[in-house]
Amino acid sequence: MNLTLKPAHEYPIPFLADLMTRGFEGYLVPINITDTVLFTMMRRDGIDLTASRVLMKDDEPVGLAMIARRGWTSRLAAMGITSNARSGGVGTWAMEQLIAEAKARGDKEMLLEVIEQNTAGVKLYEKVGFKKIRRLIGFKLENPQVESDVEIEEIDIREVARQVTYHGLKDLPWQLSGTTIMQHTPPSRAFKINDAYCLISNPEVTDVAIQSVLVKARSRGAGLSAVLMRALFAKFPGKIWHVSAIYPEEMGFIFEHVGMERESLSQWQMSRAL
Ligand SMILES: CC(C)(COP(=O)(O)OP(=O)(O)OC[C@H]1O[C@@H](n2cnc3c(N)ncnc32)[C@H](O)[C@@H]1OP(=O)(O)O)[C@@H](O)C(=O)NCCC(=O)NCCS
Repeated sequence: MNLTLKPAHEYPIPFLADLMTRGFEGYLVPINITDTVLFTMMRRDGIDLTASRVLMKDDEPVGLAMIARRGWTSRLAAMGITSNARSGGVGTWAMEQLIAEAKARGDKEMLLEVIEQNTAGVKLYEKVGFKKIRRLIGFKLENPQVESDVEIEEIDIREVARQVTYHGLKDLPWQLSGTTIMQHTPPSRAFKINDAYCLISNPEVTDVAIQSVLVKARSRGAGLSAVLMRALFAKFPGKIWHVSAIYPEEMGFIFEHVGMERESLSQWQMSRAL
């Protein structure tokens, strides 16, 4: 068996989207990567196709590793190996190469998130030196019955991004960072009340994701995030509200406070010094 890596930018987008979908076959959550989904991931998460790799076993593409980059830090944005090539050491070999490549280009840290219940993934990343930073959790709430006469103000998404960059945790998961939030665009919408800010996905459809919640440091501890979220539940009634499992566990209380239920899948935010 001869394993090699090829730069992902040498392949057409539909090929990469299909390979990623096949790499995630049988995953804990169904994954279907279309061209549009892939383009959005690349723009929002800073995926660099010149650093991302197609995994070849002899002449056959058997996996894809997407690498995002910002400054000295890279993130393994996705890694999937086709089911016929799993559990035979391909993942371990590929990670060792990706770490060596990141070191060679001068990066100082590699990050990733892995579903806690994904035994093979967690084992693989720990084996190649990744350490857990914290658990990331998600929530859900169906059709909350809320009344609120609080005035909320709609603002530019870029304003939320600026506040998160300034007031948020320095090591927020990649997808919650101010840099990622800055890449969100309509139909997502942003709102504020006083010092509380929230970004949500398109509220015109049934399922709405809370993509960012922030209270400025000076106003924390007064329940402002709950006031804002309840005002949003009242403004957009009849929705199913989602918080994907990318929020630090220590922030979970803000969602519990508005009656959201914790999702069963959680993730580990992991880091490896290079
Ligand atoms: C996770 C994944 C990338 C691992 O790649 P792989 O080539 O299967 O991994 P390896 O064969 O190198 O094995 C890595 C470790 O995981 C363990 N492992 C592999 N398959 C396993 C399984 N089905 N159950 C439990 N452990 C497993 C191996 O024992 C090995 O540890 P060891 O060397 O200490 O024994 C691959 O299984 C995959 O693509 N899965 C679907 C997509 C996915 O989960 N991606 C990761 C999301 S972040």
